[in-house]
Amino acid sequence: MKKRILTGDRTTGKLHLGHYIGSLKSRVALQESYDTFIILADVQALTTHFKEPSKINEGIYDVAIDNLAVGLKPEEVTIFQQSQVKAIAELTIFYSMFVSVNSLRHNPTIKTEAMQYGYEDLTYGFLGYPVSQAADITFCNADLIPVGGDQLPHIEQTRKIIRRFNDLYGDGQNVLTIPEALLSETPRLPGVDGNAKMGKSLGNAIYLSDEPEVVGQKIKMTKTDTNRLRLTDRGNPDICTVATYHRAFNSTESATIGEMCRNASIGCSTCKGVLSQVINETLKPIQDRRHYYDTHRHVVREIIMTGTDRANIIGDVMVEEVKEAMKLKI
Ligand code: TRP
Repeated sequence: MKKRILTGDRTTGKLHLGHYIGSLKSRVALQESYDTFIILADVQALTTHFKEPSKINEGIYDVAIDNLAVGLKPEEVTIFQQSQVKAIAELTIFYSMFVSVNSLRHNPTIKTEAMQYGYEDLTYGFLGYPVSQAADITFCNADLIPVGGDQLPHIEQTRKIIRRFNDLYGDGQNVLTIPEALLSETPRLPGVDGNAKMGKSLGNAIYLSDEPEVVGQKIKMTKTDTNRLRLTDRGNPDICTVATYHRAFNSTESATIGEMCRNASIGCSTCKGVLSQVINETLKPIQDRRHYYDTHRHVVREIIMTGTDRANIIGDVMVEEVKEAMKLKI
């Protein structure tokens, strides 16, 4: 039996290069070795976008299409819609009984996001979404979670919840599997503005669906070493976002180009031109597949429906086991 992977994305819009480097790439690489579940996290999307339901609905297709476009094969992976899997809602409720509010308030990712969205008044659902994420991971007893670094606190929280559950209700057995995070080998991708994180809501992202010209324009705007004013100035790739992108997408040339920057033998616009080309080459096959799925939405819908049915079959069994362990069966 193959081990299981579960990972996925909030359905708040199209995915970008940060998602690609952080998680999508390893999903594709591992899809044949693991029984892979991809969650279209529409409930989690509501935590920040509950006032924009149509955006989330469109986002379900966007995220499914981007996952298929990067090369996940529908016959290999289970792509499913979070809100349609009842087990996730039920497990969330059960776990929430023993998760302390303080541990949620001190979760560093929750803190950063709360600041970023400007929440004076945190909702119950937002504060608690790591509990729901623990349900996402456990309804199918996932073993491995490929994610970007910002998700590590959530995976840690999930592991804690599982240990607690097993302690409280396991009767010496592990009812739930303790998963491992699989962190991307490439460091987190900064935004084109130089911000440490590329983010949809930060307006600094290059999307998988961006046309070659748009990629070119965005790379032109991308932050470089601001001390380098003239072509003859020596540059410092260590503080240049374009250099970081070269390392992520152009590993064969990035060291040479970095050296040329240091001794002022390449200018920023040439360096950016090379980068745009490399990124567009990476995106070409992705966009070809994207075009197919975007113009065949009924196929995408069918893939999601089939995946969701499978998730429900597995989830219903898990919920029964959990209820049994919690002595809720009469
Ligand atoms: N929180 C993840 C993100 O924002 C999405 C997500 C929801 C997820 N449930 C998950 C990731 C379970 C890994 C496992 O990108």
